[in-house]
Amino acid sequence: MKSSRREFLKRTGVGAVSLGILDAELLHAAEQAPRDIPQVYAPRPLKPSALTMDGISKRTMEEHYKLYVGYVNKSNEILDALKTVDYAKANQTYSSLRVLKVELTFAVGGVKNHEIYFDHLGGKGGRPEGRILGHIARDFGSYEAWEKDLKATGLAARGWVWLAYDADRGRLFNYLGDAQNTFPVWNAIPLLALDTYEHAYFLDYATDRKSYIEAFMRNLDWSAVEQRFAQIPHLK
Ligand SMILES: [Fe+2]
Repeated sequence: MKSSRREFLKRTGVGAVSLGILDAELLHAAEQAPRDIPQVYAPRPLKPSALTMDGISKRTMEEHYKLYVGYVNKSNEILDALKTVDYAKANQTYSSLRVLKVELTFAVGGVKNHEIYFDHLGGKGGRPEGRILGHIARDFGSYEAWEKDLKATGLAARGWVWLAYDADRGRLFNYLGDAQNTFPVWNAIPLLALDTYEHAYFLDYATDRKSYIEAFMRNLDWSAVEQRFAQIPHLK
């Protein structure tokens, strides 16, 4: 494992200096082991506009994309391993079934979270329009209040912030998650995903996460968020 970590760092050019600040997500992706397995999940391509942003560098996005591909590969690998797992040895303290099922949520979470993130970057920022703006104003008081809450939640999170629509309550809320698989609540549909793991900004901003969040907002493609919102059935 140590050599694969070193190889990954060398390959990505992150460098040994950064080893101390690399988070668990990066190390998970470094452990990917390509195999000839069925591709249930397939990586979506990065939009060209996401590589020419003001404030989030091409290098950061390219390295970040590699992590996403790692989650895709691991999701496929775990699903394949579940086909031959020994169900007779299922155990809550330790068992292969337990490990695979727990880590599947981490891997698939990594896929889904990053697909939302990459999909709505490469835009021109500003404000949303139409229906979602009305819902934001209704549920947060104003657009400014929503943005203030999102930014502050971004500083409080260790992994992700999602603007999501709780289909049961019929309300928007900025949820916080500390890892790929700490989903906030059932039936909350994510519309916007702010990645607050260090790998999303450390190359550009070191520890200045606040400036990264400002850059994230400047490059947000609200049309992608609006599109996700429009797909929610039975909006309240
Ligand atoms: Fe990420």
